[in-house]
Amino acid sequence: MSTRILVFAGSARRDSLNKRLAAALAAALSDAGAEVSLIDLADFEMPLYHGDWESAHGVPEAATRLNTLMLSHDALALASPENNASISALMKNTLDWLSRIKGGEGFAGKTALLTAASPGALGGLRGLNHLRDILHSLGVGTLPQTLAVSRAHEAFTDEGGLSNERQQGQLVQLATRLVAVASALKAA
Ligand SMILES: Cc1cc2nc3c(=O)[nH]c(=O)nc-3n(C[C@H](O)[C@H](O)[C@H](O)COP(=O)(O)O)c2cc1C
Repeated sequence: MSTRILVFAGSARRDSLNKRLAAALAAALSDAGAEVSLIDLADFEMPLYHGDWESAHGVPEAATRLNTLMLSHDALALASPENNASISALMKNTLDWLSRIKGGEGFAGKTALLTAASPGALGGLRGLNHLRDILHSLGVGTLPQTLAVSRAHEAFTDEGGLSNERQQGQLVQLATRLVAVASALKAA
């Protein structure tokens, strides 16, 4: 059975640059032989985490649905926006709700590839450090190499890849690496 990889961006914005990066990742992962599911967090709407809300209602249906999806995949590829040098509120809220699912959390045994896209000069690199820490605390391993796409508003071709050949090469290399690592872990 082929390696299954779940791909999503930490932005639900219609014209999100990170959604474009997630789509580029999905294409590269598919070319590398993975079975890819590209999802949009706009389809997994959750309230802002609040303990009283949780006591009254439990975990939101969207979190349970996303967790079920995670359970059926071997690895994650994330495109994470940077807000004030950290991850987006949407990404954090999604991870927080997922972490509230007890028994059978979708994080277990996962490896993740971390990427970011930003119109800024650092490409969202600083947020990835926070994302790595959070994921490690949840038991998700991460590839040491990341990709931060700077000036992302002008970084994509009409076909959806990265116009900078070196960067597109890095993206393909990282996708291939994630598929190799996830496949090896699945076989172990
Ligand atoms: C509240 C806020 C804080 C931001 N902080 C940063 C930042 O620290 N670094 C950065 O590169 N971009 C920052 N940005 C710009 C975002 O990277 C930019 O809006 C990006 O397009 C958001 O991702 P998306 O296109 O996937 O929705 C910030 C944007 C907002 C709204």
